Amino acid sequence: MPKVFYTQPDGVEKVIDGAVGDSVMSTAVRNGVTGIVGQCGGTLSCATCHVYLAPSDMTHFSEPGEDEDDMLECTASDREDTSRLSCQLTLSEGIDLHVTIPAEQV
Ligand code: FES
Repeated sequence: MPKVFYTQPDGVEKVIDGAVGDSVMSTAVRNGVTGIVGQCGGTLSCATCHVYLAPSDMTHFSEPGEDEDDMLECTASDREDTSRLSCQLTLSEGIDLHVTIPAEQV
């Protein structure tokens, strides 16, 4: 069962056991992780699921697609090199993920 390590802007960490095939966003929302809103439900139209993915975890995913890349220009907190929309990060067997939640989502 993959784990997701969510770190708040103040450094507080919450670890959630996720399910293969779920997204980092839906796992957060279902488990009450503060700071990931997921307003559009994962349809790439809100950018309220913005996270900073740990550099070591970047290799587990391909580059953002065009739609995600466009939405990453609309984030409330500054976009960084490791910025991703967590609704596009799908959990896989045996791969734990580490994300930091930005200070603002809206
Ligand atoms: Fe809206 Fe990810 S939940 S873009």
